[in-house]
Amino acid sequence: MLAPPYDQNQLDQLITSLADRGFAVAENFVAPALVDRLIADCMAHEERGQMALAGVGRDEANTLAERIRQVKSVWLNGASDGEAAFLALAEHIRSAMNQRLYLGLFEFESQFLTYPPGGFYKRHIDSLQGTRNRIVSLVHYLNRDWQLGDGGELDIWTSRDDQGAPAATVAPHAGTLVLMLSEDIPHAVRAANKTRRVIAGWFRLNASTARRIDPAS
Ligand code: OGA
Ligand code: MN
Repeated sequence: MLAPPYDQNQLDQLITSLADRGFAVAENFVAPALVDRLIADCMAHEERGQMALAGVGRDEANTLAERIRQVKSVWLNGASDGEAAFLALAEHIRSAMNQRLYLGLFEFESQFLTYPPGGFYKRHIDSLQGTRNRIVSLVHYLNRDWQLGDGGELDIWTSRDDQGAPAATVAPHAGTLVLMLSEDIPHAVRAANKTRRVIAGWFRLNASTARRIDPAS
């Protein structure tokens, strides 16, 4: 059997940090071999023209009129080995969070996102407070050889009221994984000067109790 594509101790630390601060960042979390497959999968979607300009879901549009981004997206469905392995990894994270934090997370949905050069995403939160729909947000980066000066950093604040300097600024290096509480943690993506690839995912409560219309793609 293959070794799991992540380190159990690192996962434990990630969940501790999520509980303590509302967000967590782990560099080199996803094994390089899986990262490479995911990069290839994302590029294949781009080449086949399968990625749509990302819309803004109905509930999200109501959440924040300011929500602005430039990005193309496609949902992961597990059709490739890489996608299947990533979804299995997300399932480990989901069950570990449920065991440690009693979050009752029921499902995970995720998209490949490709930001064109100059692409960005203004400060936003991922879930309308009180809807209990998206509970934990995940971001996994797919950018090899990202240099200081390429931009595209993720800025993270610890509360909606915090308009000061970000609590953390994360470079989008391949293999870096970020978790954030979807209802509480504002974040923003700075413009990058080259194509920027990401898997963005959300751990949700039971969809049938919180049905929303998602962006068509
Ligand atoms: C999102 C998001 C972060 C990133 O898609 O909601 O915040 O680094 N993405 O691309
Ligand atoms: Mn977001």
